[in-house]
Amino acid sequence: MNRAKTTMAAAVLALGAWLGSSVSAAPSRPDTPIHYDAAQRIFRIDAGKVTYAFGVDHDGVLQTLYWGSRLAPDDPLGPATPPASRSSFDAIGSNTPQEYAGWGGPITVMPDLKVHFADGNRDLLLRYDSYKINNGNLQVTLRDLHADVTVVLNYTVDPATGIIGRSARIENHAKQTVTLDRVAAASWNLPPATDYSLRYLTGTWASEWHVRTRALTPGATDLESRRGSTGDENNPWFAIERGGDWNESHGHVWFGALAWSGSWSIHIDQDILSQVRVTGGFNPFDFSYRLEPGQSLDTPVFYAGYTDDGIGEASRLMHRFELTRILPAAPKPKLRPVLYNSWEATEFKVNDQDQQRLAEKAAKLGVERFVVDDGWFGARNSDHAGLGDWVVNREKFPNGLKPLIDKVHGLGMSFGLWVEPEMVNPDSDLYRQHPDWVLNFTGRQRSEGRHQLVLNLARDDVRDYVFNALDKLLKENDIQFLKWDYNRNWSEPGWPQLAPEDQQKVYVTYVQHLYDIMRRLRARHPGVEIESCSGGGARVDLGIMGLTDEVWPSDNTDPSDRLSIQDGFSYAYAPAVMMSWVTGSPNWVNKRSSSLDFRFLSSMQGGLGIGANIMEWTPAEDATARSYIEAYKGIRATVQLGRLYRLLSPQERAPYSATESVAADGNQAVLFAFLRQGQEAQAYPTIHLQGLDSAARYRYRLIHGKAAADTPAVASGAYWMHHGIDLGLRGDLDAAAVVFDRVRP
Ligand code: DGJ
Repeated sequence: MNRAKTTMAAAVLALGAWLGSSVSAAPSRPDTPIHYDAAQRIFRIDAGKVTYAFGVDHDGVLQTLYWGSRLAPDDPLGPATPPASRSSFDAIGSNTPQEYAGWGGPITVMPDLKVHFADGNRDLLLRYDSYKINNGNLQVTLRDLHADVTVVLNYTVDPATGIIGRSARIENHAKQTVTLDRVAAASWNLPPATDYSLRYLTGTWASEWHVRTRALTPGATDLESRRGSTGDENNPWFAIERGGDWNESHGHVWFGALAWSGSWSIHIDQDILSQVRVTGGFNPFDFSYRLEPGQSLDTPVFYAGYTDDGIGEASRLMHRFELTRILPAAPKPKLRPVLYNSWEATEFKVNDQDQQRLAEKAAKLGVERFVVDDGWFGARNSDHAGLGDWVVNREKFPNGLKPLIDKVHGLGMSFGLWVEPEMVNPDSDLYRQHPDWVLNFTGRQRSEGRHQLVLNLARDDVRDYVFNALDKLLKENDIQFLKWDYNRNWSEPGWPQLAPEDQQKVYVTYVQHLYDIMRRLRARHPGVEIESCSGGGARVDLGIMGLTDEVWPSDNTDPSDRLSIQDGFSYAYAPAVMMSWVTGSPNWVNKRSSSLDFRFLSSMQGGLGIGANIMEWTPAEDATARSYIEAYKGIRATVQLGRLYRLLSPQERAPYSATESVAADGNQAVLFAFLRQGQEAQAYPTIHLQGLDSAARYRYRLIHGKAAADTPAVASGAYWMHHGIDLGLRGDLDAAAVVFDRVRP
């Protein structure tokens, strides 16, 4: 106790020397959502329906003061006062809900930043230095009390959704090396309470996007990936709900997502004072990043928001934020074209003639984008060889890709190609030339996954090779779309060319180079769209989403499993980026048979694609496909860009699933309803729509299914929301889709 008090007193004295003199800020403008109250020393953000506030306490520590529903401008929020000491085991400052805590002094909460200096010192006392508000963004600089190490905290805010983006820049201005052992982007502090529960996403290959909840109790929960990439075991998204009575449209929800496609961590901790703190950033596991004097490191951005209106609204805020602030085409994302993909039809057996035939058939069905998947390059006849050799296989395409591309364009479709640029098969020319280009520890085994190794993209020469190979491919061929795949986790993540103490930089530099390649390719080939695929949904996060136009949620294309996969996906990510294919029946994953209707309706919940061998379809199946594709084109703006309501949850293998999308302009709503398995004589639940204008009138029309005989052709929004509609689904794998069009008065 005494020692802690002495340390804190010394800190206060040292603080007096510089506090106040160092504010280098422009005055905050009243029209920005960010304000600084100099008298109270409080920063306050008011955006959407949210207020967020933090202040500088007497010791110079930055302390979260409030995060929740919007408050009145003159509501008191400060001053910042750390929790009192209760015993010698929790000194003042040890549990302060800090905005960004350095590990030093008496703190016992999880720090955001932990360092060690070359001289052996590991103490870091980050204190307020100054702030700036520029273009509506806030930067707050913290400085260590003793060493010249600064942390610049960046805050951006989306005025529409109230979602705040936070990141940190660690700068070493000292004369000695500083090694960063643990670096978070931000910590989010929730009000103290004991009735929180956490919702998160978990899964594995072909079984991604399961939604799980667990009570938050004292003790930590770690959501993370140690795989080198985002992974699907957890997705870097969380939602924390207060009280037990929350549901889709009711309850306090704090939610967030990390924009990083490498190993990441979201650490959720409830401390002895019932304070809940969510700390997210680089995964500290196997992490180390050395900063020489003059060097700095930027963290990823950790975004977070709040709503009073339940988890459904939390998802809609995320979707809107992604559409208007994250996606490359934001704020006006392009609609996803209906695509055809060759993978499930031909696997590695792609060739010019067969692909041209598939393209002809696809165009007749109404497909708008034709994508040749794996197998077109190098010696790629199976997954044993060829990765890394991005040259067209002349046995399969004797005259290159041009004849096929011309054919596809002539049929009125855009052309897409599969690539997996970060990988190499040991059986490839690239590996034979550059065996040192892969992640490896000298003299150790190189574990293969799908017969492939991971190229060390952190190396400049590897980054340049990958960029140049793709740039050449796009220059020489008139390509509009790349499906960018990534099919394994890291192993043996060594970087033997660097000094041992710098090798772990691979976790950061790899991802920075990946983003750099995508950014430069997009700049040089602005007409090319990219899909992020990782053997399914193992690389979906707000970081990759900033550079890609769509994602592949799962290799599992069974339309019944897909209902849960797509539902889970929708908690964090927008239907606008969620691709879904109609494939063959029985499905290859689980041998389940389903009707073409059920397959189409399940896939129409996102960006519609076809991945079946359409050469085998009968004329009747062609006609069915044509009519669904046409119907989809009439509703896709609503489905992809509208407000999504999850009406019946398919989670936990529930028999029912229903979703509704309401167009941004409110003129259309689209309802999808599914029955996986009928139970005894139970009736399908009446469906109550949401999000309609009560007073407006809507006419319903069926894309598929039947409505109860007494369903009125036209009724008010109030009627559809409160009386509802009965669709009478029966048996196994039955489905319906209904469109509600607003009737002009
Ligand atoms: C994994 C992807 O998820 C599939 O869609 C397909 O592209 C294969 N890779 C090709 O190898």
